[in-house]
Amino acid sequence: MIYTVTLNPALDHFIEVDGLVVDDANRVKGECLYAGGKGIDVSRALRHLGGDSMALGFIGGHNGRTMVDLLKAEGVTCYFTPITRETRRDIVVCTGKPRTQTMLNAPGPVVTPVEWHAFLTHLRLLDLREAYVVVSGSLPRGVPADAYYQIITLVQKLGARAVLDADGPCLREGLKAKPFAIKPNLSELRRAVRKSLRTDAEIVAAAATLNRSGVEIVLVSCGRRGLFVVSDGARIRAVPPTVKVRSTVGAGDSAVAGFVFGHAGGKSLEECARFAAATGTAATLAPGNQLCALKDTLRLVPRIKIHVVKGASR
Ligand SMILES: Nc1ncnc2c1ncn2[C@@H]1O[C@H](COP(=O)(O)OP(=O)(O)OP(=O)(O)O)[C@@H](O)[C@H]1O
Ligand SMILES: [Mg+2]
Repeated sequence: MIYTVTLNPALDHFIEVDGLVVDDANRVKGECLYAGGKGIDVSRALRHLGGDSMALGFIGGHNGRTMVDLLKAEGVTCYFTPITRETRRDIVVCTGKPRTQTMLNAPGPVVTPVEWHAFLTHLRLLDLREAYVVVSGSLPRGVPADAYYQIITLVQKLGARAVLDADGPCLREGLKAKPFAIKPNLSELRRAVRKSLRTDAEIVAAAATLNRSGVEIVLVSCGRRGLFVVSDGARIRAVPPTVKVRSTVGAGDSAVAGFVFGHAGGKSLEECARFAAATGTAATLAPGNQLCALKDTLRLVPRIKIHVVKGASR
């Protein structure tokens, strides 16, 4: 089983206008609601790939109920921990020409200590043996700063493999629990190791340092340059073909889904790297916030070039 954790989800309200004129009335051409959040997007991408998962996290109020309804309609299974406060609603104003997206992001609800402990109790109720738990995104107000450390420690004690996709302090705290895998992008890795990392060898060496500190698999995604996978004895680079990019939103989440889907299916690290790069690149072919389509992913898989990175220390 694959679980995803989104502690700070958002109900995204997309509003389409011809042009946005501030301090005036604007006619809305179309609108839609979208259950947003990085872990939720991993669940959604897994669904596109034909996999199953369960989305976990906090949900509250009317916005929360709407999100659950939307996810149900998409076939994404969820088991959220209820909170008293309202799940945040983000406004995204989109214009066609020029193509712009103006985001108004709410800070989100405060989670109480009782609700945080209820979430940990929910985790303990799951059968996590042989499971994967993908932990991604930011933390809501009110949860402890070491929330990712606590979650990863708990789920790995219960037999799961934790996969962490986070930035800054969340990544640093999570790393202390030695997650099974991490998926920083290059900027996130630079911040984590506090180095500029220019060459392939430097990226792989930084990933190898994290691997030696206890992370079994370090995936580093580098946008159109593809991704690196570093594990004991493995130094792999997966390079996608040049494609016509429509939107890079969700490329990272799709890559995480592709990697976990491959690994849970018993694929080799090389195949997981290939699949992660293919799902990430497939997401860039889709417009807006759409994620990897299975058809695009399968078409890309044989076009991903796999290299062994030389000159990198083991
Ligand atoms: N411009 C691009 N062309 C081809 N493939 C891309 C491009 N951008 C991203 N990808 C694919 O998607 C994967 C993940 O992308 P990226 O490194 O941008 O993730 P990220 O920064 O974590 O994204 P996110 O904003 O979703 O968190 C890359 O490894 C690559 O395979
Ligand atoms: Mg990312």
